[in-house]
Amino acid sequence: MTTYSLRSASPAKTKVDAVVVGVVADKAGPRLCEAAQDVSGAYGRRLGAFLSTMGVTGKAGEAVRTPSPDGVSAPLVVFVGLGDDETDAVAVRRAAGVAARNVSNAASVALALPSGTPELVAAVVEGHRLGGYTFTAYKSTKSESTDANDVVVLTSLARRPEAAAALERAEVLADAVALCRDWVNTPPRDCTPPLLAELVTATHKEVTKGRGAPKVKLEIFDHEQLAEMGCGGILSVGDSSAAPSRLVKLTWAPKNAVTHLALVGKGVTFDSGGLTIKPSSSMLNMKSDMAGAASVVTATLAIARLGLPIKVTAFAPMAENMVSATSTRPGDVITMRNGTTVEIANTDAEGRMLLGDALSLAVEEQPDVVVDIATLTGHMQLALGDKVGAVMGTDDQVSAVLAAGSAAGEQHWAMPIPEEMSERITSSKVADLLQHDWVRWGGGLYAAAFLREFTGGLPWAHLDIAGKEMNTGGPYGHVPSGATGFGVTTLVHLARSLAGEV
Ligand code: BES
Ligand code: ZN
Ligand code: MN
Repeated sequence: MTTYSLRSASPAKTKVDAVVVGVVADKAGPRLCEAAQDVSGAYGRRLGAFLSTMGVTGKAGEAVRTPSPDGVSAPLVVFVGLGDDETDAVAVRRAAGVAARNVSNAASVALALPSGTPELVAAVVEGHRLGGYTFTAYKSTKSESTDANDVVVLTSLARRPEAAAALERAEVLADAVALCRDWVNTPPRDCTPPLLAELVTATHKEVTKGRGAPKVKLEIFDHEQLAEMGCGGILSVGDSSAAPSRLVKLTWAPKNAVTHLALVGKGVTFDSGGLTIKPSSSMLNMKSDMAGAASVVTATLAIARLGLPIKVTAFAPMAENMVSATSTRPGDVITMRNGTTVEIANTDAEGRMLLGDALSLAVEEQPDVVVDIATLTGHMQLALGDKVGAVMGTDDQVSAVLAAGSAAGEQHWAMPIPEEMSERITSSKVADLLQHDWVRWGGGLYAAAFLREFTGGLPWAHLDIAGKEMNTGGPYGHVPSGATGFGVTTLVHLARSLAGEV
């Protein structure tokens, strides 16, 4: 386990195995960041030529390792690129992540990265922890690299309480993202709805045990209870599977709550498409279809650990979408929790069936704001790529999510819910709503219009993160290959802003 500490020591004199030095790509050429000035001093006038010979330019993503010069205590210096703005927390978070992956065998590491504000200190810690994330649970030989035991964040704010608070906050946030990644990376046979609910139970127990631990209420509803509750949407998906459905509900209700946020996350533990089966290449990563559920659960526990003064009620409906004799058929009509009837057209549009029920339950709690997050449509992946999430909903909440995303270092983009969608979603000849209309264009917007029917007119944001939850390419910044944990930090920042903290 890595421990992080803050120290105001000089990077050149800190006795560690490796020192990480941020490099700024200035117009005039690369230079070491403010926090690493005495390392510049150790090189003296040779620094410019040395950086140039080593190919160090300071561009984002760059990492160059070199034996240290006289005057630097650590035997290894690692230059990491910051881009051209050393005050940008997003760039610092990414650079710290790159650093973590490029120092693999040092027991102790010092980070001389921009850290002149509490936000930057948090970015360094978050970036380093998340960039060094690995998932080795299923490898029989673990990789040779070892995590550093001690990571020293060099900052002039070391003795300031705001910096200590930023460090603590960053660790809570990184824990949440790492846990979300673990669950999303877990193979679907080990992450069926009952097993995922057990993972939540175990984590909940850990977070809430002991004196001073936050009090979070956990409720888990099984198949029979869901049937009694009239959650036809969840069951219409989950009854295709041998593994029964679940609904996880978490409640964080501090006495000083200033507002009430309801979170809803899609938890399809595997999405084969059902009878409207997916082509094999589209099915490959469908274990990640529970990323929304994982992100609302981990974000809620983080919000509680941070003691944020808002009430949070989180719903994570969990079902497996399979092909079987008990699969829902296109043409079936399903009655949802709120009594709305839905004609099924495509069993691969299953996420909205889970979310419809869970949103109805969320609205029954009379929250001030509702936010749902889901790997909902390939359309939004096609439109925005694998790094930018789509957000739709009421204007105020869409803006709030965009702002939270930029503070968190995650990019979201507002998409509209066009007027025509209201007509399209009600065009079923037999039921109140048509689940899907086979017009390909704007399928992600159709889905949002469908979900809106279950939000009771409350302030609401819908995050469609399809494709963002899983990085199928190589690692970059603080994002590893595999599950990304996308959305968790946005949700926590949103909660912080609702709490009036930022
Ligand atoms: N889980 C998928 C969406 C998805 C796509 C997630 C890519 C992650 C990466 C969802 O249930 C789905 O199948 N959506 C359909 C929607 C359509 C039937 C309206 C899709 O993307 O084609
Ligand atoms: Zn799905
Ligand atoms: Mn699907």
